[in-house]
Amino acid sequence: MGTTPTNGYKDRKPDTIPVRLHHAAYVCRDLEQTRKFYEDLLGWPMVAAWRECDKVFGEDELYYCHLFFQIADGGALAFFHFANPQQHEKFAHYGPHSPFVHLALKVADAEGQQQMQRKLEKAGFETMVIDHGYCVSLYVTDPNGLNLEFTVDHPDAEKITSKRSASAREDLRKWLAGDRSTNNEWRVQAKV
Ligand SMILES: [Fe+2]
Repeated sequence: MGTTPTNGYKDRKPDTIPVRLHHAAYVCRDLEQTRKFYEDLLGWPMVAAWRECDKVFGEDELYYCHLFFQIADGGALAFFHFANPQQHEKFAHYGPHSPFVHLALKVADAEGQQQMQRKLEKAGFETMVIDHGYCVSLYVTDPNGLNLEFTVDHPDAEKITSKRSASAREDLRKWLAGDRSTNNEWRVQAKV
């Protein structure tokens, strides 16, 4: 139980809580363009380029390449590309998506985040930064229309998580009952 997250659900079996993201998978428009974005521009190592053929999802012969770009905790972002253009179109689901549909990844520090922003802008990608109070986020959309968020936590992140977590059910109850007052005091402070 030593590694149980401080989510207040002490009765939950620990083995039902995932230990980390294994991978998040998407379909890419172009393998090399995707590799250039993640490996050359962002510096994530490409740790696998699986070549496979499956009989799945109604397809008798589905030939595909499956790229994995690793993040620091061992998890990865993965991208499929299918050899047959008709099959590729069938399985692709590109953006642009709503900006509220996104993948958020924690980065080590503000310096690294700023460096990423400079690199992305130099390469012609539009970026945006939002201070959420509990974290500061850099947003960019990858060449496949996937919205990415790179966050740097507030220095008091543990305290903030512990406070928010202690009242999460009550906070939800209040919202559902019509309470629209903010409970993000850190964001209010960030705007002062
Ligand atoms: Fe987010």
